Amino acid sequence: MSAPTRQIFVTTALPYANGPFHIGHIMEYIQADIWVRFQRARGARVLFVCADDAHGAPIMIAAEKVGVTPREFVAGIAAGRRQYLEGFEIAFDHWHSTDSPENTELSQSIYTALKARGLIASRSVEQFFDPVKGMFLPDRYIKGECPNCGAKDQYGDSCEVCGAVYAPTDLRDPYSTLTGARPELRSSEHLFFRLSDPRCVSFLQRWTREDDRWGRPRLQAEVLAKAKEWLGEGLAADEPGHDSTPADDGASSGARLADWDISRDAPYFGIEIPDAPGKYFYVWLDAPIGYLASLKAFCAREGIDFEALLADPSLEQVHFIGKDIIYFHVLFWPAMLHFAGRKAPDRVNVHGFITVSGEKMSKSRGTGISPLRYLELGLNPEWLRYYIAAKLNGRVDDIEFNPDDFLARINSDLVGKLVNIASRCAGFLVKRFDGRLAAVDTAVAADFAARWAGIDAVAELYETREYGRAIREVMAYADRINEYIDAEKPWELARDPACAADLHRVCSSALRAFADLALLLAPVLPVTARRVAAMLALPSQAWSAIGVPLPEGHRIQPYQHLMTRVEEKQLDALFGIEPALPAGDGKTAAGPIAATTAAGATATSASAGAPPATITIDEFAKVDLRIGTIVAAERVQGSDKLLKLSVDIGGPAPRTVFAGIQAAYQPDRLVGRQTVVVANLAPRKMKFGVSEGMVLAASDESGAVAGLYLLEPHAGARPGMKVR
Ligand code: 2FM
Ligand code: ZN
Repeated sequence: MSAPTRQIFVTTALPYANGPFHIGHIMEYIQADIWVRFQRARGARVLFVCADDAHGAPIMIAAEKVGVTPREFVAGIAAGRRQYLEGFEIAFDHWHSTDSPENTELSQSIYTALKARGLIASRSVEQFFDPVKGMFLPDRYIKGECPNCGAKDQYGDSCEVCGAVYAPTDLRDPYSTLTGARPELRSSEHLFFRLSDPRCVSFLQRWTREDDRWGRPRLQAEVLAKAKEWLGEGLAADEPGHDSTPADDGASSGARLADWDISRDAPYFGIEIPDAPGKYFYVWLDAPIGYLASLKAFCAREGIDFEALLADPSLEQVHFIGKDIIYFHVLFWPAMLHFAGRKAPDRVNVHGFITVSGEKMSKSRGTGISPLRYLELGLNPEWLRYYIAAKLNGRVDDIEFNPDDFLARINSDLVGKLVNIASRCAGFLVKRFDGRLAAVDTAVAADFAARWAGIDAVAELYETREYGRAIREVMAYADRINEYIDAEKPWELARDPACAADLHRVCSSALRAFADLALLLAPVLPVTARRVAAMLALPSQAWSAIGVPLPEGHRIQPYQHLMTRVEEKQLDALFGIEPALPAGDGKTAAGPIAATTAAGATATSASAGAPPATITIDEFAKVDLRIGTIVAAERVQGSDKLLKLSVDIGGPAPRTVFAGIQAAYQPDRLVGRQTVVVANLAPRKMKFGVSEGMVLAASDESGAVAGLYLLEPHAGARPGMKVR
C-alpha cells in the first residue's frame, strides 16, 4: 500500500503593506519556496499562501500623509508585489490581504470563540492621547527628553543616546510626533486575551515541547529555549534544547506570561470588535488569522471546502517566519487557534536576518540590496536563489550576503561545475550519436555515487531546511562527475574514430548524472531544471525520477545555453543604487525628496507638480557647480537618513557634506565615485556638524522607479571642474 499523500499548508510572514519588499522578505520567500517545491516534487499536495498585512495605525497615518484612504494606500502597495514574486520564481498559490471579508469573518469568529471560553478580559488602560489628532498614540509617535540622560527628541520606548529603556510616560516634555502637541494621559477600556490563564500556559508548555508528526521537534532548539524563558520555565545550564518531559500538570509555577492587549480605540484601520463599538482588533491579532483568510480565499477560488480542509487531521500547517516575530507565533497564535477550537500549527520554522556586507537588514530602513533593482539590472534570479540557499541552514543564524562570495559561488559552482557538465558532453552526443544515449554503465554510475551521501540524505536536508548542506552534497556529486570527464577527456576521444564507443559511453554517463543533478537542485533552480528537462527530454521531474537512469537510446535535444557567469560590474551596479522606501511606516525614513532637501542632497522629482518659474542665465550662473570625488563616506550615528561625505572638489581640503542618501547607498560603495556638488551653498550648521555643500541627485516619485540617483559625470572629469 502506498503512503497517503502528504498535505501541507505553508505560509510566510505577512509583510506590512507600507512599502515594497526588501531583500529580507525575498530571502524568506525563497527559503519557503524551496521547501514547497521540494515537497511538491516528492508528491505532496501543498497549499502555499501569503497576504499583505494591511491594518494598523502606521498604515493609517502613512495613507493620510499622502492624502489617500488606507484602502487605496494598501492597494497601491499590493499592485507592486507581483513583479517581485514572479521575478524570483516564488510560487505562492494565492496572495491575499488581511483587509478582506474572509479575515474580518475569521477574526471576529475566533475572538467570539475565545470570549466564550472565558479568555477575554476587559481592563482600563492609561495611555498618551494626542488632543489635536484626537487619537491615542502608539509609542513610536511619542518623543521627548530622555529621563536618564536628558537627550532631546528620544522615542517613547528607549533612548538612542544612552540606551536607557523606559515607558513613554517617563519621558520629560513629551510631544506627539504627529502634531507636536503635548499628549495627555487618558484612560480607556481595552480588551485582553488572557494568556496568563493556566489553561493557556499549560497548553503552550505542552505544544512548544512536542515533536511534530514526523518525530522532529516542532520548534528549533533556540526557539524552544526562548519559549521556555517566556513561559517561565528557564532552561537549566546543562539541559539540551529539546528532550525534556512535557509539563502536563497545569500552570507552571514560574509562568510569567502577561495578558495580551488586543484592542485599539478608533480612529484605527482594522477590524471592528463585535459588541465593542469604536474598538478594533490590534493589527497583530488579525495578522496571523490572515494566513487562514488567504487559504480560505484560495479554497473559494479552487472550489475546495476550506473548513473541511483545515479540520482534516492529515493537513500539516507550517509557518516560515523571521526571528523578530517568534513571540507572536509560538505563544499568541497557537493559543488563539487552540482555544478557538482549531488546530494549532505543526511547525514554526524560524530564520535569522540577512546582513549585507555586515550590516543588518532592518524592516524600517531596508538598506542593502534592492530586489527590484536586482531584477531591473537583469541579474539572474536563480543566482540569488542559489546563493541564499547555499547560505541557509535549519537554525536561526543570520546569513551574510557578500558580493565577492556571491560571484565566486555562482561562477565556480553553478557555471563552472554544474552547467559545465552539460556543455562538455551534450554537443558530442547530439552531433556524433544523433542525441541518443549509450547503454547504462552501472559501474560508472556506482563510481559517481561513491563519496556523496545520496539522494535520501539530500531529501532529509531539504526537509530540515539545511539547504547549504544539501547543496554541498549535490556539488560533491557534481565534482565526482567533473573528475570523471577530466579523466576520460571526451574532447580527445572525439579526435579518434576508434574511440567512438568510449566517447558515447562517457558522454551518456555524464549526462545521465547531470539529469539527476538538475532534479536534485530543481527546488532551488526551477527555471534551469525546466530547461534541462526539456533539453534532456526527461520523462519526469519528480523526486522519484532521480537516480533512475535514462534508458539506452533515449534521445536528447541539442544543447541550449543554461546560465551565464556573474560579472563584477553587475554587482557594482546592484550595490551602487537602490530604491529608498516611500514615506509610510512610522519607523521609516522619509521619502527621498523630503530626506534629501533637508539634508544636503537635492533631488528633482519628475512628477513633482508645476515646474519652477524660469530663471535667467545670470541667476543660474550664481550656482557654482563643481565635479567632486567622494573620498570618504560614513553613516551618521543617530541619523537614519544621513551619510557624511568628504568630497574633493579641487580645493585645499575635501568638503564635508551631509547628504540624506543613506537609504539609497552603502557608504563604502560611494568612495571613489564622482558627482556634482553645489560648491557655493552657504555652510549649514546641522545637529551632526557643518555641511559645506550639497550633492546632486535625481529621483522619481511616480512609483515606477522609487529610487535616488546621484549624478555622475562621464569618465575623464576631474575634481574641481566647473559644471555649466
Ligand atoms: O513583522 C511583520 O512584518 C508582520 N507584518 C508580520 C505578520 S506575520 C503574521 F502574523 F501575519
Ligand atoms: Zn538617554
